[in-house]
Amino acid sequence: MTVNNMKEILKAENLCFDYPDISLLRDVSFTVREGDFLGIIGANGAGKSTLIKLILGLLKKDSGEIRLFTDKIGYVPQKANSFNTDFPATVREVVMANLYKSVGLFKRYKKSDEEKMKNALKRVGLEGYENRMIGKLSGGQQQRVFIARALIAEPELLLMDEPTVGVDAQSVHAIMKLAAELNRQGLAIVMTNHDTPTLVKAANKLLIFCEHGNSEYVARADLTMEQISEIFAGGRAHNHG
Ligand SMILES: Nc1ncnc2c1ncn2[C@@H]1O[C@H](COP(=O)(O)OP(=O)(O)OP(=O)(O)O)[C@@H](O)[C@H]1O
Ligand SMILES: [Mg+2]
Repeated sequence: MTVNNMKEILKAENLCFDYPDISLLRDVSFTVREGDFLGIIGANGAGKSTLIKLILGLLKKDSGEIRLFTDKIGYVPQKANSFNTDFPATVREVVMANLYKSVGLFKRYKKSDEEKMKNALKRVGLEGYENRMIGKLSGGQQQRVFIARALIAEPELLLMDEPTVGVDAQSVHAIMKLAAELNRQGLAIVMTNHDTPTLVKAANKLLIFCEHGNSEYVARADLTMEQISEIFAGGRAHNHG
């Protein structure tokens, strides 16, 4: 067995969670370390977004453990790319609002904050877009603005919930390429995505919600796409620490 010495960033152990009327997560266990890209796969309603909310502390677990070893977390919520065309905010405002905590109530941004904003936009391939209205951008561009918004706070872990839903094929490719690049630069990533083959290609670890309440945690390298589809379709036991 190889020992992984990379720093632990996030760890779930036998995590359980139900909504009052819906039994959902049963004994979910996984580890995210520095440099990891965890892909979360599962059908509609399997509990993927719920797990993201448990990671963020927006929901409280029923039992088991979910532990974060960093407070530097970036979050790109599901449907971050569905603004009205007349939504009254510029790209600059959307991205810089995530510096709010450190800037304080009166939003006196420093010159260096403006630089950070521009740098974050550059990292997502939207250099020069700061004065555009968010609602007038394409779904894929809006999604990248939200990634920039997360990046401006210099996270160690980036949580992305369905970042490619509702964007065209070219944008899917651009967003996944960007995620892979950020991951290569050292950012740990947790991503849910309906596009299973695309996610499987990018991730080095997978958490697969199969039958109701059951999940499997595997290293991507251990499995072929065929075997992953088999698990996804429901059933075979396979475990990886
Ligand atoms: N606040 C809530 N109260 C009660 N039930 C909820 C709540 N939020 C979600 N649910 C239910 O819990 C289940 C899991 O929802 P969740 O959003 O985690 O699924 P998901 O895997 O992210 O689905 P999708 O692929 O559609 O995004 C669904 O059946 C959903 O209807
Ligand atoms: Mg969801």
